[in-house]
Amino acid sequence: MAEAEGPKKLYIKTYGCQMNVYDSERMAEALGAEGYVTTDVAEEADMVLLNTCHIREKAAEKVYSDLGRLRPLKAAKPSLKIGVAGCVAQAEGEEILKRMPLVDLVVGPQSYHRLPQMTKAVDAGEKPVDTDFPAEDKFEHLPERPVSSRPTAFLTVQEGCDKFCAFCVVPYTRGAEVSRPVERILREARALVAKGVREITLLGQNVNAYHGEGEDGTWGLARIVRELARIEGLDRIRYTTSHPNDMEEALIAAHGDEPKLMPYLHLPVQSGSDRILKAMNRKHTAEEYIRLVERIRAARPDILLSSDFIVGFPGETDADFEATMDLIREVHFGAAFSFKYSARPGTPAAEKPGVADEVADARLQALQALVTSQQRAAQEAMVGREVRVLFEKAGRLPGQMVGKSDYLHAVHVADPGARVGQIGRVRITESGPNSLGGVLLGA
Ligand code: 5AD
Ligand code: SF4
Repeated sequence: MAEAEGPKKLYIKTYGCQMNVYDSERMAEALGAEGYVTTDVAEEADMVLLNTCHIREKAAEKVYSDLGRLRPLKAAKPSLKIGVAGCVAQAEGEEILKRMPLVDLVVGPQSYHRLPQMTKAVDAGEKPVDTDFPAEDKFEHLPERPVSSRPTAFLTVQEGCDKFCAFCVVPYTRGAEVSRPVERILREARALVAKGVREITLLGQNVNAYHGEGEDGTWGLARIVRELARIEGLDRIRYTTSHPNDMEEALIAAHGDEPKLMPYLHLPVQSGSDRILKAMNRKHTAEEYIRLVERIRAARPDILLSSDFIVGFPGETDADFEATMDLIREVHFGAAFSFKYSARPGTPAAEKPGVADEVADARLQALQALVTSQQRAAQEAMVGREVRVLFEKAGRLPGQMVGKSDYLHAVHVADPGARVGQIGRVRITESGPNSLGGVLLGA
């Protein structure tokens, strides 16, 4: 058979969290070494990879409907390879091939470095499935990251989770908590900065549980942050997602005196009811969370906090829900993500009946209205202030540039003088539904 002309094209669709965004980039690099270039057009692809999310039922079902939609593409181009990666791949493995025979390969999150061999196996007529948790660091087997055109980058420092919250699939799909060694993280960070990256977001399912091996013993996340802050040219450091019980004193202190550590923290609490927190196996009370927030704000008073919430967890009463609303009113969040409880197969909570759908819907609406009002208030409090904005890309309107403030607010300015990769001083003049507008004052 004749080889196709030109480079092979790879289309990756990413679902779910930032870890998947990072992993998709690394998969593109692994396949880049095999001659694939990425495309944004699925119709012209030689290989389609769905990097999937299993966190809620809706996310997992979406993958199957998207796979169904690939049928005409495969019919038009039988050589098209279709792969399922990510947490649905990990959770369902072989089942995916049974349910969707058009799929050629299934690869779990810990096996991405094996993608090149797996695509060769597909060429040889096989349908490889790899959902192992190998003892090796997959990142060590992936190629070096290419030149970045973006000033921001994700860097995975830790994967997996040992917390076993009663509702969550992550400990099963991503496996046990594993921290990457210090040197590899520092090396990757320096390489990113040498390529023009000015902001790094450290990623991990349980990022503040980081405990990686350094030359002189075990390092926590705070020490990684301090070491990264020494890299010249790196201006901003963030990390996500954190568990309240791993918020060590050294990390709180870093928020107080490390200017490169940005004043934004995603610290999911899930519920404000002690009874539900206990049933969720969160291992802290609402009061302990509130005290923790006070300590963090004592170190960095202007820090913006965000959280995740689940409503309709099995057994949640009106009083439990009201306790969550009370916690939100007490803490004040700058942003929040809220979800209706979704039973995930294999998790302890899935054994118990959830609350009635209409009740959960009503709670979700009420909670979202409250956090939206807090989000608006936090944005409006920025109007009139001068903030620093790292410009990331051109905006929708001509001459417009958009970027993020230290507080992770999206900010747009109408100034042809603003450049991608520049950190500008911006006076905030307006607050829209999801972003702020301002004028560029200078560098
Ligand atoms: N149902 C609803 N929301 C969930 N999350 C995790 N598992 C579930 C579930 N089974 C939410 C949590 C978590 C976020 C990433 O997704 O709020 O923090
Ligand atoms: Fe899931 Fe986060 Fe709980 Fe770990 S800490 S089990 S990732 S919700």
